[in-house]
Amino acid sequence: MKDYYENPGLLLPEENITGQIGWRSPSNIALVKYWGKYGRQLPKNASLSMTLSKAYTETSLKYRTATTAPKRVFLFEGNDHPAFAKRIWKFVDSLEHIFPYLQQMDLEIVTKNSFPHSAGIASSASAMSALALCLVDMERQIFHLEYSDAEFFKKASYIARLGSGSASRSIYPGFSLWGHAKKVSIDSDNKFAIPFYDAIHPSFRGLRDAILIVDDAQKKVSSSMGHSLMNHHPYADDRLAQADRNLNLLDKALRVGDKQVFINVVESEALSLHALMMTSDPWFMLMKAESMSIIQKIKKYREHSGKFITFTMDAGPNVHVLYSEEDQLDIHSFIDKELKPLCVKQQLLYDEMGRGPIKLK
Ligand code: PMV
Repeated sequence: MKDYYENPGLLLPEENITGQIGWRSPSNIALVKYWGKYGRQLPKNASLSMTLSKAYTETSLKYRTATTAPKRVFLFEGNDHPAFAKRIWKFVDSLEHIFPYLQQMDLEIVTKNSFPHSAGIASSASAMSALALCLVDMERQIFHLEYSDAEFFKKASYIARLGSGSASRSIYPGFSLWGHAKKVSIDSDNKFAIPFYDAIHPSFRGLRDAILIVDDAQKKVSSSMGHSLMNHHPYADDRLAQADRNLNLLDKALRVGDKQVFINVVESEALSLHALMMTSDPWFMLMKAESMSIIQKIKKYREHSGKFITFTMDAGPNVHVLYSEEDQLDIHSFIDKELKPLCVKQQLLYDEMGRGPIKLK
């Protein structure tokens, strides 16, 4: 069954068109993890994330009616990057059913990240969401479409999802929810993310995230490979039930300001993700000794100081440390003294909850 997003029925105007669009879009960190997918990038469970601020991608898209065979130019941080270019054009070509006229246009995509590519920070969420925003905005510009903001961002989230599932969540400020959440009382969907911010308790606004770079090499396991491990995983059913339970708990904790439940859920999600990888066939051990030391030190510091500090991880060895703005001074000195020496080349990025994508002038 086709839906609204896949059937715009738009034809390019007769006259030649030309234009340029730019968007900055942030990365995000999942608190309830998306792990396992079906169909075309549809999640097996609903996930909830926090949008970041300082880790972002800026993408500009130049377009014009092609006069001969359509030309494609892609530059990453000012240079050719054949591997990224291949992924980007494969994604753009895969959108033919949504934007059929792209095949009649010359496109130039120029993109850069605010963080070093070698920092081991997942960049697909920021990259794919920035590109999706450019494409949807280009369409709005060419066809003079009158989207409400909500419709515009919903479509951008839908397109971003097709590039990288987690990218669907980078479209909104604060917290985002992607995937059909059974008990959460808002209208969630597997095809796009929705904002999850209205009723958030003040204790969780403006959360900080220090991203500790334990390994700056490229990902050892691609996301697609990782998700596919869930297809025949012995604990798959229990994992899906756990994700639902954790989402419900986090939903309530975020609304009432329950920091202890927040810590329990976020750490359970991070460790479960790694446990699922360790018990996959083939198995992967993505934590490093330093990741484990960092986690232990965070737990010990929390027990001694009584402060709100917790951690999460993606499918890799880097650790995200989450804490409140009000404890920033103390926690930064703890991080600098105890955790930074465990980072590769002492690299870390102090980030925080962000306000979502912005259109570039
Ligand atoms: O968006 P993908 O396909 O790269 O998957 C992301 C998976 C995790 O980062 C491990 C979890 C998540 O929800 O972001």
